[in-house]
Amino acid sequence: MTAMLFSMPGNERLARAMADQAGWPLGELDIRRFPDEESYVRLRSPVTGCAAGIVCTLARPDAQILSLLFAARLLRESGARSVQLIAPYLAYMRQDRRFHDGEALTSRQFAQLLSSEFDGLITVDPHLHRYQDLAQIYSIETASLTASPLLAEWVQRHIDNPLIIGPDSESEQWAGAIAAHVGAPHAVFTKSRRGDRDVLVAASDLAAWHGRTPILVDDVISSGHTLANAARAIIVQGFPAPICLAVHGLFAAGAEALLAHAGCRAVTTDSIPHVSNAVDLGPLLGATLVAQLTVLDAQRLRKTPK
Ligand code: R5P
Repeated sequence: MTAMLFSMPGNERLARAMADQAGWPLGELDIRRFPDEESYVRLRSPVTGCAAGIVCTLARPDAQILSLLFAARLLRESGARSVQLIAPYLAYMRQDRRFHDGEALTSRQFAQLLSSEFDGLITVDPHLHRYQDLAQIYSIETASLTASPLLAEWVQRHIDNPLIIGPDSESEQWAGAIAAHVGAPHAVFTKSRRGDRDVLVAASDLAAWHGRTPILVDDVISSGHTLANAARAIIVQGFPAPICLAVHGLFAAGAEALLAHAGCRAVTTDSIPHVSNAVDLGPLLGATLVAQLTVLDAQRLRKTPK
């Protein structure tokens, strides 16, 4: 046995789908909390000589980061030849510069923490805004996948005559790619953010596309304010409430109610478990896991003294 996949709590379904795709067996990790909230981690599967992978989406990262780091170290100490992290949603990408004096550069520090325990990272549509590449902050092998083709396939299968709309300039990359894939027009609004839950969205004129079904596309739904505001700007132009299509549905407190109040239906990938999940990432992630292992093994062989 040369490879084994592990799941952190809450990631079991995706880990199973990835393991099926990759042809890797699933190993067993016990992870629980002591009464004082410290983490308990125990490995129950032999990993000597194995390439190991841990599936852990990093929504709500503070609650799980320590047990994840403990698990990675434990696998290595137990003889795993490499340890990869598969984090479909990668956290701590927003603070990619110090916006105000005295702020912590958490994107870099988080990247250093993960790079210190893992050999490789596989993720989907990380929030690369001021960084162009994860390699700018991660010192390990990284694979950044995009869910755009899968989101586009969902649109193709479920929506006739769509109009793809990005709520802000950063969403152009998803809105443009999906629109091109399905052969639909797209528009991109302008957003200014005044606070965590305070955004202004300036819509463009959509009059030329009346009769089409509006689909708002973004990488992340967090507080929901970006998409709810964009949805209202679409509805006042005489369109039905849009479908909100996103890669990562974080759904911070109040987000679901906000979108429901605007009349929107959310559709997301399963990067973060949620009732809106309709696009499966398991096959894509599983195939990438196998490919990345080949890269890591080649690196290891190059480093092994003859
Ligand atoms: C920001 O640049 C992202 O692409 C999303 O638009 C943002 O994270 C959404 O956040 P919220 O749901 O809190 O408005």
